[in-house]
Amino acid sequence: MKMNLKFICNKNLVVTEVQPGKSLLDFIRKDLRLTGSKEGCREGDCGACTVLIGELENDRMIYKTVNSCIMPVGDINGKHLVTIEGLSDGKLNQIQNDFVEQGASQCGFCTPGFIVSLCGYFLSNEKPILKDAIDSLDGNVCRCTGYESIRNAINNSIVFLESNEGDSKRHIEKLVSSNFIPEYFLEIPQRLNNLSIDIQKDSVNGDAKQIIGGGTDLLVQRWEEIENADVNLIFNLHQNEKITVEDNICKIKATTTVSEFWESEIIKKYLPEITESLYLFGSLPIRNRATLGGNIINASPIADMTSILLALDAKLIIEGNSRKQIKLNEFYTGYKTMKLEPGEILDDIHIELPDEGARFNFEKISRRTYLDIASVNSSIYLVIDKDVISEVHLSAGGVAPIPLYLFETVNYLKGKEIAFETIKSAAEITLKEIKPISDARGSSAYKSLMLRNLLFAHFAKLFPNIIVVEELI
Ligand SMILES: Cc1cc2nc3c(=O)[nH]c(=O)nc-3n(C[C@H](O)[C@H](O)[C@H](O)COP(=O)(O)OP(=O)(O)OC[C@H]3O[C@@H](n4cnc5c(N)ncnc54)[C@H](O)[C@@H]3O)c2cc1C
Ligand code: FES
Ligand code: FES
Repeated sequence: MKMNLKFICNKNLVVTEVQPGKSLLDFIRKDLRLTGSKEGCREGDCGACTVLIGELENDRMIYKTVNSCIMPVGDINGKHLVTIEGLSDGKLNQIQNDFVEQGASQCGFCTPGFIVSLCGYFLSNEKPILKDAIDSLDGNVCRCTGYESIRNAINNSIVFLESNEGDSKRHIEKLVSSNFIPEYFLEIPQRLNNLSIDIQKDSVNGDAKQIIGGGTDLLVQRWEEIENADVNLIFNLHQNEKITVEDNICKIKATTTVSEFWESEIIKKYLPEITESLYLFGSLPIRNRATLGGNIINASPIADMTSILLALDAKLIIEGNSRKQIKLNEFYTGYKTMKLEPGEILDDIHIELPDEGARFNFEKISRRTYLDIASVNSSIYLVIDKDVISEVHLSAGGVAPIPLYLFETVNYLKGKEIAFETIKSAAEITLKEIKPISDARGSSAYKSLMLRNLLFAHFAKLFPNIIVVEELI
């Protein structure tokens, strides 16, 4: 079923009817005929298709980078879509000038994506820092220029912006007066308000069986089928307060993205060690769309957020004919099968707030450090009372058909003292309860060895005064 769409693309109002599951990149290139956004990998890996999505939050525009190749077009309803064409008005903007001056573009295929990501960085950061600006490009790949000239161009843009004090009070006005973005950006909040779109309600199609969260798994795996299917877009279902605390329970909406989880003050306060791990999850544009619910329901044995949530002993709240609760460690029944009936939606994820003295660690082995899925991953949550483990939860990914909760190792560890012998024996039990298979990401023997090492790494990292890795191996 087609969907009515009303949104602003660059400075133009677009009113149209589309199949909502179609890739936003196809819509931009083929329907809007804006061909600056490029199709490279079509899998969220290269960043050539990066665009900005702007939304009003408390009367303020928030712009986020996304990979348009794997975003369903229906999710653009009521928002501001910015493509490379919308970042300059008749002449190059300052960031583009700096790229030209530094020779930071050769074939130019990747350049629109880099410029869009950088504009997104400058729009979100009033005090730009070179390292952070470079980090914001973690989803952009260049095959020919080499990154040094790109780094130099960014540095020049930052110096230019800092030196251009101007008399504008608002950051966005400073970006306009410094020629980082065109003037029409200033009118966008008012124009979006005038659209009067209820972003939450207008996308949901409860009759459609095919649920789409961020689409970062579905539009890679089944985009040809999804583009013409009836789809229920739930990404915008919960706009505010996605993470709350009630009676010692942290309630996380399943539509929470990895970025929102990372930026949450609640998560930073109660689980600071988790936020330190999240840079290992995809790239910024992926984290801006990947939801926690999608990570769980996609049921990949190496899903990172699922690994983390298993170690937090998460409970799932599922909405269907009735509302039911099930522990995440009892949810999966086999490879990509789970206790979820057709039509049911994962609504909420609940975790108990950690006890005082609780420790958490996440480890991931992948072929590339960044922007790669895991070969093996593992998370641990521990509460220690005078060197004795009073509570523990441990997960392992990539070593079984499902994301695994290591029940037997957990049972063994409870009540034991943190000591060299305890960890050695725990590793032996772990190796008996996993069933790794040999595949493109490593042989069964390799994965067993890696998981053993990750177990050692957990304890060596959390208890460096007691556990020394060299003694374990
Ligand atoms: C380049 C790239 C890098 C990636 N890197 C990582 C990584 O480092 N670590 C990692 O773990 N994953 C990674 N992923 C995979 C993916 O981003 C995550 O699994 C993500 O969390 C999926 O969420 P989504 O909302 O995009 O899911 P979607 O694609 O929207 O949906 C996935 C599945 O879940 C179902 N679904 C979604 N939400 C709900 C709900 N609330 N209730 C019921 N069903 C639902 C959908 O119907 C579908 O079957 C990467 C993907 C890409 C393309
Ligand atoms: S085309 Fe490569 S990330 Fe979209
Ligand atoms: S300039 Fe050619 S891929 Fe970057």
